[in-house]
Amino acid sequence: MAEVKAEVKAIVDKAVNSGAAPVTYGQGDRPPRGDYAGARTDYTCEQNWAVYTEADHDLYRRLYERQAAQLPGLACNEFIEAVKHLGAPAHIPRFDELTDKVYRATKWEVVAVPGLIPEEAFFSLLSQRRFPVTGWIRKPEEFDYVVEPDVFHDLFGHVPLLFNPMFADYMQAYGAGGLKASRLGSCEHLARLYWYTVEFGLIDTKAGMRAYGAGILSSAGELRHSVTSPAPQRLGFDLERIVRTRYKIDSYQSTYFVIDSFQQLFEATAPDFTPLYERVAQLGELGAEERLPTDRVY
Ligand code: PHE
Ligand code: CO
Repeated sequence: MAEVKAEVKAIVDKAVNSGAAPVTYGQGDRPPRGDYAGARTDYTCEQNWAVYTEADHDLYRRLYERQAAQLPGLACNEFIEAVKHLGAPAHIPRFDELTDKVYRATKWEVVAVPGLIPEEAFFSLLSQRRFPVTGWIRKPEEFDYVVEPDVFHDLFGHVPLLFNPMFADYMQAYGAGGLKASRLGSCEHLARLYWYTVEFGLIDTKAGMRAYGAGILSSAGELRHSVTSPAPQRLGFDLERIVRTRYKIDSYQSTYFVIDSFQQLFEATAPDFTPLYERVAQLGELGAEERLPTDRVY
C-alpha cells in the first residue's frame, strides 16, 4: 500500500503554492519526483511514451502480472471486467489510447502529470473528468515498495473503475466537492473520504467481500490482507464516521469501510457537505483503530 501514502497526504497537506516553481505536497524535504518543468499551468504534461526503456516496460509487465494473478476472489467484478481495457501488459499503455477507450465508455480522459500535484489542481482535473496519471515508473528495486504513486499504481489501480458509469460519476463529484472543500477549509476531512473509498474501499458482494480501492488493488500484499485477514476491522460505510477517522500512511490499514454498491456510495455522498463539515469540526477526530458502539462490523 505504501505507494499511495504520499498521494493522499498530498491532497491533505495545506499548500504553500507561491512563486514560479510548481509546489507539491507531502514531500518533506525532498523535491517531488518527476519533471515539472514541462508541465502546463493545469499540471498536465506529455506522457513522452518514447522515453520509456525496455526495462521500464518489463517492470510494468511484471507488476501487472503479479497483481492480475491475485484479482480473482479478491477484486470486485467491475474491476476484473474493466482491467482488460488496459490492454496487453507487454508495454506501459499510451495514455491517448486509454483515453479513446474510457472516453467512449464514460467520457473520462487519462492525462499525464509529472507526479504529485497540488490539491486544487487535482480536484479541478477530476471535476473535468480528466484523471491525472503519473508518467514515471518506479525503479526495479522499488518493485514491492514505492513511496509516491507511479504510473503502475495510477493506471492499474484507478483507471479500470473509470469505465464504471456510477463510479465515474462519483469521481467527478469528488473533484467538484474538493474545490468546495478547499474554499471551506475542509480538505482534510474530504481527503479521508478519498482514502477510505477510492484508495482503500471494500465492497460487499453476493460472492463475498471484495476490494475496489486503488491502493489495495495495486498492492502486492494488502489486497489479500484487506479482504481476508482477521486483523483489520471492516465497518459498514458511514460518511460522517469516515471523514472523522484518521488513517495510516506507513502500514496496512487497521480499518476498512465497506460499501454495498457504487450507487450507495454515490447517493450517500450526493448531499451538500457544508453542514457535515460543521458537525465534524465539533465532533473531533477518531483514531485509525477506534471502534464505536454504532459501528456496523463485518
Ligand atoms: N456532495 C459533496 C459536497 O457537497 C460533494 C462530493 C460528492 C464529495 C462526492 C465527495 C464525493 O461537498
Ligand atoms: Co491513488
